[in-house]
Formats: sequence, structure tokens, C-alpha cells
Amino acid sequence: MNRINISKPFMGEEEIEAVRNVLLSGNLVQGVKVKEFEEAVSGFLGIKHAIATSSGTTALHLAIESLGIKPGDEVITTPFTFIASSNCILYNGAKPVFVDIDPKTFNIDPEKIEEKITDKTKAVLVVHLYGQPCEMDKIMGVCKKHNLKLIEDSAQAIGAEYKGQKIGTFGDVSALSFYATKNITTGEGGMLLTNNDVWADKTRIRRQHGQRMIYEYEILGYNYRMTDIQAAIGIEQMKKIEDLNNKRIENAKTLAELLSGIDGIVLPSVAPETKHVFHQYTIRVLDGKRDALKEQLNEKGIQSMIYYPQTIYQPGSESCPEAERACKEVLSLPIHPHLKKEDIERIAEEVKNYLEN
Ligand SMILES: Cc1ncc(COP(=O)(O)O)c(C=O)c1O
Repeated sequence: MNRINISKPFMGEEEIEAVRNVLLSGNLVQGVKVKEFEEAVSGFLGIKHAIATSSGTTALHLAIESLGIKPGDEVITTPFTFIASSNCILYNGAKPVFVDIDPKTFNIDPEKIEEKITDKTKAVLVVHLYGQPCEMDKIMGVCKKHNLKLIEDSAQAIGAEYKGQKIGTFGDVSALSFYATKNITTGEGGMLLTNNDVWADKTRIRRQHGQRMIYEYEILGYNYRMTDIQAAIGIEQMKKIEDLNNKRIENAKTLAELLSGIDGIVLPSVAPETKHVFHQYTIRVLDGKRDALKEQLNEKGIQSMIYYPQTIYQPGSESCPEAERACKEVLSLPIHPHLKKEDIERIAEEVKNYLEN
């Protein structure tokens, strides 16, 4: 019986050949391939600037820096996400202020943002978790009303759409991740997105030690460069992105059909007027049975994961009851594009077996 893993990068001969060509070219870092990858992403999303970085985390760090967020500032965000979403706020000495999530979408609850705004609030950082877009109309309305900057952590949501517009193009700045498990991958890698020429210019300088020209240091910077090896993979992945996302959406539909009507679980909901790209297919397992189901699936050769077992804030330090409940109930099932119909049937069968017996 083959083991079904939670993720598997989709790599073909094209990626292998592209890497080989870069290795033989002699130009390994931030060269023509990085530029070509950036153009492929900016064209796909319809955004003016896409700036490649070494990871999604470093793209988020540069996003915070480009907005000039500094010690003493507050940034409103979600407690139910990967740690990098908040770490980038802490890197600059600012304070993440947590707003609870909407239990249906697992994303920040837009109705609860306003009550957390103070005179120190500078920005709102939203995360399109699992590939599901946040409620952008409401979020942008609050940002506009209170003159706050908007950052989109789109690490899990490349290709997702809200009312026909691509995620990553709503915020003042946004970040993508191309980590190995993501919908498209370069192994490690990220990208900062913006329509703002000044922030784009500064970001390009910051990612290479503040240099515009070699050894002319304009501002404080870092080594956050992407290699041409990564970019060459990314260019090939971008040619497949629609197919890869569509396969995830199709797998999610099949899984939903097979799992519907089973007591004790709640299936993912897709918010109206959105395209959810199912970076994860995350169910809720009720009645305290989540960990036992995970164990049973593992014994049957199916890997599942808990994204995320704890909130970003220290236990007891804040209160976001919906996020805390989600930490106890969520379970992500395999949904990646390599899965065959029979794999999906096997996953559904094993979930059913556990909950109905
Ligand atoms: C929501 C979210 N934000 C940020 C990141 C950070 O991206 P990276 O791992 O590429 O640094 C990730 C991915 O791991 C993520 O899932």
C-alpha cells in the first residue's frame, strides 16, 4: 500500500533541465532568471512590481520595512497562522495585536478589527489561510476609514481570487512564499508585491545590503537574494500554475463529495465570490476526536497535519476563543496535485471508517 503524504512538490523534466542550464551558465545568483521569474509573477497577478527574495519570511520582513513600521507601532493581525506572519512585525520592534478569526473561513474576522485600533496602529496584516481569500471589501474599508496600511500575507494563496481580482494585489504590499510545500515551489523562495514605485525601489536595494551600485551603500539592507537556480524552477512552475491550482480545486471537490454527510466533521467552506486554491484542505474534527483520527490515518498510511496546533500568542496572554478552538479541531488532509482518484477515495474511506465505527 503506497503512503499518501500531505504534500509532494510537482517537479518535471522541465525544471531539471532549467536548473541544469543555470548551473552550466555560470550565473547563479539574482541574474536574468530572477528577472524573468519576477516578470512571470507580476504578469500573472497583474501587479507592477514583483521582487524575488530568499523566502516568504524575508519578503514579509521587507514588506514591513517598506511601510516604515518601527518600534512602538502596532500591527493588527491574526493569531491563527504560521509564525512568520507575526515574526516579521517583531523584527522591526513593532507589536502584533491579535484579532480573532471567523470560524467558517479561519481568516481574520473583519468585524472585530475596529475595536483593536489605537492611536499606535499603523497597519493591518491579513493572511489568506489555506488558500482562502480574506473578506477584502470589509478589510479595505476599515483600513481606508482609519488610514491604515494593508499587508497581505499571500504565502499560501498564489492564484486565489476575491471578486475576480488576484490575491496579493489588494494590499499596499504583499508577500508570496515558494517553500517546498506551497502550490508552486522553488524549494525556498519568496516575492514581495507592490504597485508603489518608491517602496519597490527601496526593497530592491534592501535585499542586497542596501546597495544600488556595488559597494555603494544607500540604506541598511540584508542578503535576501534569490538564486537563478531557484528562479529557473519558478519560471517552469509558473507555466503550470493554473493546472496545479485547478487540480487542487478538483481534488477538494471530490473529497467534499465523498466526505459530505459524515457526522463529527465540518468540511471547509468556500466564501462567496472567491476562488479558494486549497493550499490545504482543512476539516474540523469535533468531540475531541481529532488527534485519534490523525493517529488512525497515519497507521493506514495517510499523513495528515495540524495547521496550527497553537495560536501565535503565548497561551494565556490574550484571548481569541475561535482561534483557540480551531487549534484543537483542525486537521489538514492531503490534497496535492499528484493524488489520484483512488488516493482521494482511500482518504475519505479511512476518515469515514474512523468516525462511523
Ligand atoms: C502564512 C505563511 N506566512 C509566511 C510563511 C513564510 O514563508 P517561508 O517559509 O517561505 O519563509 C509561510 C510559509 O511557510 C506561511 O504559510
